[in-house]
Amino acid sequence: MMDALGEPQSVLVLGGSSEIALATVLALPRARLRRVVLAGRPSPALDEAATQLTSAAIAGVSTVGFDAADTASHGDVIGRVFDEGDVDLVIMAFGVLGDQAEAEADPDTAVAMATVNYTGAVSAGLRVAACLRAQGHGALVVLSSVAGQRARRSNFVYGSTKAGLDAFAQGLGDALHGSGARVLIVRPGFVRTRMTEGLEEVPLTIDPGDVAGIIVSALRKGRETVYAPGPLRYVMAGLKMVPRPVFRKLPI
Ligand SMILES: NC(=O)c1ccc[n+]([C@@H]2O[C@H](COP(=O)([O-])OP(=O)(O)OC[C@H]3O[C@@H](n4cnc5c(N)ncnc54)[C@H](OP(=O)(O)O)[C@@H]3O)[C@@H](O)[C@H]2O)c1
Repeated sequence: MMDALGEPQSVLVLGGSSEIALATVLALPRARLRRVVLAGRPSPALDEAATQLTSAAIAGVSTVGFDAADTASHGDVIGRVFDEGDVDLVIMAFGVLGDQAEAEADPDTAVAMATVNYTGAVSAGLRVAACLRAQGHGALVVLSSVAGQRARRSNFVYGSTKAGLDAFAQGLGDALHGSGARVLIVRPGFVRTRMTEGLEEVPLTIDPGDVAGIIVSALRKGRETVYAPGPLRYVMAGLKMVPRPVFRKLPI
């Protein structure tokens, strides 16, 4: 249950080793947290994430196996976490960037990306929403991307999965309206994490801690959609207006 100041006391992270999600948990008032469940594929990275939170004096940190691509298991995994107690905040952070050239050359690779980023998110998102609705409170943070705002030639497979995810999350937020539960859609640009390691940075590149600050502030303000960093809202509004013959020639 949220505390008297409206701060979350229990958090579920789907994609438990995500650097953006971890930074977000660390940006919450730590002394308020009573339970943090990191759901992810068993790996040293997931264990390290749990250790990092515990070392930061966060109480009640645990891990649970969760594979976004294994949608048949989602009901059990998510149901069990909610059965063990209220969840105030769910951060849906799993995702794969993949390689555009590889995905174009091998449709199975593209399908695997779509399965995690879109199908997995639909499966987990609907199950989380049902649990939040039953609780009558709580927030679902969805890690979308500016890549989904307009698909670019250079990464349209990833972009299309995020476009689908973003549209789904908007609808889910509308469906939950009035239930006490809500959805916050986060649209980051380029963030320095494992996902972007080795890629050339672009203007407005930020760190996971910056995204975390934006997410926590947006949750407190009851926002439904937020860009990270904020000025990307205007960049994307401008890019959406660019005619296609021009857009496809842009070096982006
Ligand atoms: N970094 C950016 O520039 C950026 C920009 C816009 C949006 N985003 C989005 O932000 C979210 C978090 O990304 P991040 O930057 O924090 O990168 P990250 O640290 O690489 O996190 C990605 C997470 O997704 C998990 N994951 C991948 N496939 C999975 C599967 N089949 N089942 C369960 N978990 C799976 C990874 O777990 P494993 O350890 O098991 O691989 C990892 O925890 C992603 O949805 C990403 O698309 C990132």
